[in-house]
Amino acid sequence: MASEIRSELPSKHPIQTEGVKSAMEAIYNWNYDSEIDQLRTLYANALERQWVAMRDLDWEHEIDREAFSRTFSMGGIPISETDFWKALPQETRWEISRRSAAFLLSNFLHGEQGALMVAAQLVAAVPHMDGKFYASTQTLDEARHVEAFAAYVRKLDEVQPIAPGLKKLLDGVLETDSWMKKAVGMQVVTEGLALFSFRDMRNTTEERLLEKLLTYVSRDEARHTGYGIKYLTAVVPTLDEQEKAGIEDFAFESARLLVDSRAGMSFRQTALKLWEAAGVDPAEALGALSREREKIRESLARTGGRFGPIRGFVIPTLRTIGLFSERIQGHFEDMFRANFGEAMADLERDPKHVPEDLEAWVNEGYETL
Ligand SMILES: [Fe+2]
Ligand SMILES: [Fe+2]
Repeated sequence: MASEIRSELPSKHPIQTEGVKSAMEAIYNWNYDSEIDQLRTLYANALERQWVAMRDLDWEHEIDREAFSRTFSMGGIPISETDFWKALPQETRWEISRRSAAFLLSNFLHGEQGALMVAAQLVAAVPHMDGKFYASTQTLDEARHVEAFAAYVRKLDEVQPIAPGLKKLLDGVLETDSWMKKAVGMQVVTEGLALFSFRDMRNTTEERLLEKLLTYVSRDEARHTGYGIKYLTAVVPTLDEQEKAGIEDFAFESARLLVDSRAGMSFRQTALKLWEAAGVDPAEALGALSREREKIRESLARTGGRFGPIRGFVIPTLRTIGLFSERIQGHFEDMFRANFGEAMADLERDPKHVPEDLEAWVNEGYETL
C-alpha cells in the first residue's frame, strides 16, 4: 500500500530521493528542570520572535531591477564600483546580477534544508532538555527559511544545483553520530558563515524585499549561532584533549569544504558561465577588472572587506568557544597559504571575538524593521 501511495506522488525532481545514512543515538533526559539557563532563555526568545514568511513579507513586490543590479559583488569583490560594470548596458547588469544571485541564494536555500534536517536531529541527539527545547524552535525557523528563500529564488530564476563542497559538508554533519560535531559543523561553521554573509548582503543590497527577508532570517540565525556558542562553551571544558581535538578537526574540515568550494575552479567556472549566459565574454571581463585592481583594493580597504566570513566570524567564534588550539590554527594558516598565498596566512590582525550580543549586531540600523 505504501509503495502504491508513493508512486502516485509527483516527482518533478528525481534528485529528491537522494539520501545519506544518518543513524545516531537518541538521548532521553528524565530531568525536566532547566540545567543550562542561557539555552532556556534562548528558547523563550525564539518563541517570542516567530514570524510568518508568507504573511510578513510582501511577495507581490516586483523586484526593482535597477536597484538590484546597483550593488553587485562576487566573492567579496565589489564589482559594481568598477568602471567596467558601470559601462555595461543596464539589461546586461541585471542579467548578470539576477543569475549570480540565483546561484548564491540557491546554495543558501540548500544550506537551509541541511540546517532544517540537522536541527531536527539535534532535538534527539543533544543530552540536555534545554538543548532539545531550543533545537525544536530552530527546526521551525529553518523550515521558514527554506520556504522564504525558495520563494525569493523563484522570482529571480530557477533553483540552481548545490555546490559540491556544501553538499559534502552537509552530508558530513548529517552522518556524524556526535552531537558536538553536528553543533560545531552546523551552528558554528555553516550558520556562522551564513549569518555573516546574510548580514553583509542585507547591509549592501538596495532591493527592499531581499533586504527585509535577510533581516528577518539573520535575526533567527543570530540565535542559531548563539546556541552553538553557548552550548559548546558550556561543554568544551569537560572534554579531554583527544575529544577536543576531534571536534576541532571536524570544524576545520567543515570550513575547508566551504573555502575550497568558493575558491576552487568549480565555483569560478560556474560564475564565469553565468557571465557568458548574460552575453559577456568572461576573458574580456576578467581583463577589464584586473586593469582596475587598484580601485577594487581601495574600495575593499574602505569597507574593511578584507575579512571574509571564515576569518571575520567563524574563526573568532571557535576562539571564543575554546576550540582554536595552536595545532588547528596551523591547519587554517596552511589552508589560507595554499589558497590565497603567504600574505593571507597571517591571522594576527583578524578579529579575536564575535560580538557578545549577536541580535543587537544584526539589528544595527534596522531596529524598527
Ligand atoms: Fe536558517
Ligand atoms: Fe540557522
